[in-house]
Amino acid sequence: MFERIKEDIAVIREKDPAARSALEVMLLYNGFKAVRMYRRAHWFFNHNMKFLARWISQRCVKKTNIEIHPGAQIGRRLFIDHGTGVVIGETTVIGDDCTLYQGVTLGGTGKDKGKRHPTLGNHVMVGSGAKVLGPIEIGDNVRIAAGAVVLSEIPDDCTAVGVPARVVRRNGAKIVELDQVHIPDPVAQELCRLEHRLELLEKELARFRTGKAKSEESSRTEEVSAAEDAGVPKADSSPLHDE
Ligand SMILES: CC(C)(COP(=O)(O)OP(=O)(O)OC[C@H]1O[C@@H](n2cnc3c(N)ncnc32)[C@H](O)[C@@H]1OP(=O)(O)O)[C@@H](O)C(=O)NCCC(=O)NCCS
Repeated sequence: MFERIKEDIAVIREKDPAARSALEVMLLYNGFKAVRMYRRAHWFFNHNMKFLARWISQRCVKKTNIEIHPGAQIGRRLFIDHGTGVVIGETTVIGDDCTLYQGVTLGGTGKDKGKRHPTLGNHVMVGSGAKVLGPIEIGDNVRIAAGAVVLSEIPDDCTAVGVPARVVRRNGAKIVELDQVHIPDPVAQELCRLEHRLELLEKELARFRTGKAKSEESSRTEEVSAAEDAGVPKADSSPLHDE
């Protein structure tokens, strides 16, 4: 038991730079108090003393504003930062080394019976105000953004954001979502490309024709001036015209 208490203190000191001493954590950290009270309540819950278990958990709500149902299964080194407004439902499962910020709900949608709360893997971080609802699986090393509402499964090593939450990072790489409605038409794209090339070719041809016409004009002018230099009369300077 003391080993568990020690690691619950150690994880807070490791993750919260504001935690200065073990004493400060034990006396002033609501997250620590709530986890300790949950562990006690869970013991009574498992030993069929459900009323006592609920009584402890409700005392915890009064003291810390954190509500953890004694039936929830929580792994080692859970860190609840700040904690106000955190709610963890009865059939929730949380792995090891998870972090929850204030305002997180691990709850049900109201539609399911039996297992109706989420299952979180190891090293999961749930940002402030995020809601994870329903009997869904959240993989290991998942980061759920502040304010997200998660309604479906999230695989390992992902970051999920938004309402409803969508995966935006997997293994640190950005996920580019394909728009399922406005799917690009490859044939139309190819036709568009061909039309563009045709336009370019037409312009090129027009430029070529203009260039050719101009060069013909200038060569004709050159021929005329060469003939004039040689004393050949102009084509339009006919004897009739001279008279
Ligand atoms: C999601 C979070 C964990 C960052 O995870 P990350 O894997 O490092 O992801 P990034 O910061 O690269 O963000 C990924 C994308 O999600 C967006 N995003 C991040 N946080 C978001 C949020 N809370 N809501 C909506 N979108 C968010 C980013 O803008 C980014 O968008 P882009 O792909 O268009 O650039 C972090 O932003 C967060 O929300 N932490 C919660 C911390 C908390 O609750 N603190 C309370 C302390 S009191």
